[in-house]
Amino acid sequence: MNRSKHSFFHLLTVSSFVLLSHSVFAAKVTLEPSSWGLEEGKACVDCHAKSSAGLTHQWKNSAHAQANVNCLDCHQAYEDDADAIEHEGSVIATIVSPKDCGRCHTAELKQQQGSVHTKAVSIINNRMPALAEHFGSLSINDAGCAKCHGSKVIVRGDGTLDPSTWPNSGIGRINPDGSKGSCSACHGRHQFSKAQAREPAACTYCHSGPDSPDKSIYETSKHGMMYEAHKADMNMDSDSWVAGKDYSAAPTCVSCHMGAAGKMKSTHDVGMRDSWNLNEAVSTQQYLVIFADGEKRELSSSDPIPRKGESISKMDGTMGKVKAVASPKRRRAAMTKTCLECHSKNFANNAMKQFDEVVKLYNEKYGKPSRDIMQALYAENILTPLPFDEPVEISYWNLWHKGGTRARHGAAMGSPSDTWKGMADVGSLFYGKFLPQVRKVAGAEKGDALIKQYINESEHHQWLNHPAKANPILGYGKGSSNED
Ligand code: HEC
Ligand code: HEC
Ligand code: HEC
Ligand code: HEC
Ligand code: HEC
Ligand code: HEC
Ligand code: HEC
Ligand code: HEC
Repeated sequence: MNRSKHSFFHLLTVSSFVLLSHSVFAAKVTLEPSSWGLEEGKACVDCHAKSSAGLTHQWKNSAHAQANVNCLDCHQAYEDDADAIEHEGSVIATIVSPKDCGRCHTAELKQQQGSVHTKAVSIINNRMPALAEHFGSLSINDAGCAKCHGSKVIVRGDGTLDPSTWPNSGIGRINPDGSKGSCSACHGRHQFSKAQAREPAACTYCHSGPDSPDKSIYETSKHGMMYEAHKADMNMDSDSWVAGKDYSAAPTCVSCHMGAAGKMKSTHDVGMRDSWNLNEAVSTQQYLVIFADGEKRELSSSDPIPRKGESISKMDGTMGKVKAVASPKRRRAAMTKTCLECHSKNFANNAMKQFDEVVKLYNEKYGKPSRDIMQALYAENILTPLPFDEPVEISYWNLWHKGGTRARHGAAMGSPSDTWKGMADVGSLFYGKFLPQVRKVAGAEKGDALIKQYINESEHHQWLNHPAKANPILGYGKGSSNED
């Protein structure tokens, strides 16, 4: 085991590309072994072996128990722990936050903090507070949204945790000590195993359901097919897990979004290698800005791109000094590095080109025109500003969020089934619901004018200008449809 003190300093001096591809150091634990295995912690094990035998058993089978890291080493309370409680003669906190784990796992903490996962609570407020309120309610938030996105944990006066906010291990949980996220979102407790976190299920627990089609996409991709057939050859519990070296049967989510490949090390920042934003109404390519304090934010390629050393506003509105900027091209190059362990360069680049073309088609044919029409309807007060109170708003949301996301993610991750399902949903919604609802809400004359302005002039919708053609769907014109 290598426990040498690795340096923060190194991380602060590397260039943006190095940050993407070599930023991570293998499991080096920052503290010296003599600083854990607290004597007082042995009593916890003895008593909990009776009072909660299952939990203690999980711990006994963990790398932590083997390395002599005990209950108190993780659960001891610190000065900034609002949730410190007196328990059987020790001061402990039930919540073990990323900051607590980060005492020993500095590198993982550093990568995880500032990553897109830690923004998962604020993204709801930034983008779609109405979604939770109008479609759901507080109870749906507590048992639904917050389970994946994370709660803001509230500590009551006596140090106990408010039951509407905990238990929770959401990916962006706001902890009493101010840190964000929950390491046990992926590393189930009390084993905290890396093998288990490499499984697709560690991600699809959240990356499924209305907001994320990725479970279905992976399962209907060739990668998912090969993974299913060759699970036993994946070498999941190997210490080192480098694509092409330690396994080759198939990539999992982790291989592409976090994993090591060639000289590129593994990272706990899952968003590093993504060049687009595929979960918005219109996709744009994204620069990643890394601040001196480790915070990060994405900027669209149409925004002004800052230089190193400049001060710009961070996601939370405060100013930060730019340490490095990674372009969409760099981020794509990092992702493609993984492919190259198992595929040729032409193969990987062509696959990426097929994906990018689907994103562009979606943007130009459906994403932009529907967005522009919606903006016009709001600007002219034809729609109220209140989201979701008019049918066309619901169709628009389903168009980009449900169908549009599925099609774009499907193409990104090699599922022909979901690419087509997503695009078929987009097309049916667009022509079958959205456009008729625009005519209805705006009136036929205004509606037709908007449709003409944004749709009819576009090359993508020229087929609408040939209404007299035979209709093979109804069986008419059979045998004649190829004649012209
Ligand atoms: C003499 C027995 C005993 C000892 C010693 C003991 N515990 Fe407990 N602990 C319990 C019992 C019993 C519960 C469950 C109480 C309950 O169900 O409400 C508990 C509950 C807990 C909880 C959950 C609190 C919550 O908010 O739900 C944590 C965390 C915990 N113990 C950690 C520790 C740690 C760390 C130590 C060592 C410093 C320790 N315990 C020592 C018996 C013990
Ligand atoms: C590697 C760090 C770590 C170690 C070691 C550890 N825990 Fe925990 N424990 C956690 C985390 C993380 C949670 C989840 C709490 C949260 O953040 O929501 C937790 C939760 C708990 C809970 C409350 C959740 C539940 O399922 O009831 C109890 C009780 C508990 N731990 C007891 C123990 C005991 C007893 C030991 C020793 C046998 C122990 N822990 C060792 C990290 C640790
Ligand atoms: C099963 C886990 C899960 C649940 C439950 C969940 N989400 Fe999400 N949500 C995700 C994931 C995963 C993403 C990221 C999708 C991506 O980036 O492709 C996401 C993305 C989002 C986004 C940003 C992108 C978008 O799709 O609009 C918003 C806003 C959002 N969720 C709000 C909510 C709200 C509000 C609720 C509850 C009413 C909720 N989510 C419930 C997992 C979940
Ligand atoms: C998004 C899921 C996810 C979250 C959240 C997560 N991890 Fe991990 N972690 C993984 C995966 C997957 C691996 C294995 C990576 C690999 O081998 O490429 C891993 C590996 C590790 C390792 C072993 C590293 C090694 O090289 O042996 C440590 C230590 C670790 N994580 C700590 C943490 C800590 C601390 C946190 C919270 C700050 C955390 N993890 C949060 C998924 C996650
Ligand atoms: C007191 C120091 C300490 C704390 C606190 C700590 N760990 Fe560890 N962790 C270790 C040591 C030591 C190892 C074993 C390292 C090795 O085998 O190379 C380890 C190993 C791991 C591994 C690799 C497990 C495997 O399958 O090989 C993961 C994942 C991990 N820790 C996650 C966490 C998480 C998550 C937390 C917080 C809930 C945490 N650790 C808190 C010291 C700590
Ligand atoms: C506990 C829930 C949860 C788990 C587990 C989880 N995620 Fe996420 N993930 C989310 C949410 C919520 C978002 C959206 C956050 C945002 O956009 O701010 C997200 C966003 C992402 C993104 C989008 C990054 C970007 O560029 O926009 C990627 C990629 C991702 N997750 C990969 C993974 C992988 C790989 C795993 C498993 C190792 C994983 N996630 C596990 C909830 C989760
Ligand atoms: C073969 C590699 C590969 C595998 C396996 C894979 N992904 Fe992806 N994923 C990609 C690529 C490539 C993109 C698009 C990146 C870009 O934007 O350039 C992507 C995009 C995403 C996004 C959207 C990020 C964004 O840009 O908005 C999420 C979320 C995501 N993947 C999660 C997952 C999950 C969860 C799994 C497993 C169920 C998974 N991925 C499996 C390669 C992979
Ligand atoms: C760990 C090895 C591995 C990695 C990494 C990997 N793949 Fe694959 N990929 C495979 C295997 C195995 C197959 C199935 C080959 C077959 O029989 O068609 C496959 C199949 C594919 C297919 C379907 C090919 C076809 O003929 O229909 C595409 C597309 C693809 N991969 C793209 C990618 C991209 C893009 C990346 C990187 C983001 C990537 N792969 C990363 C192993 C890998």
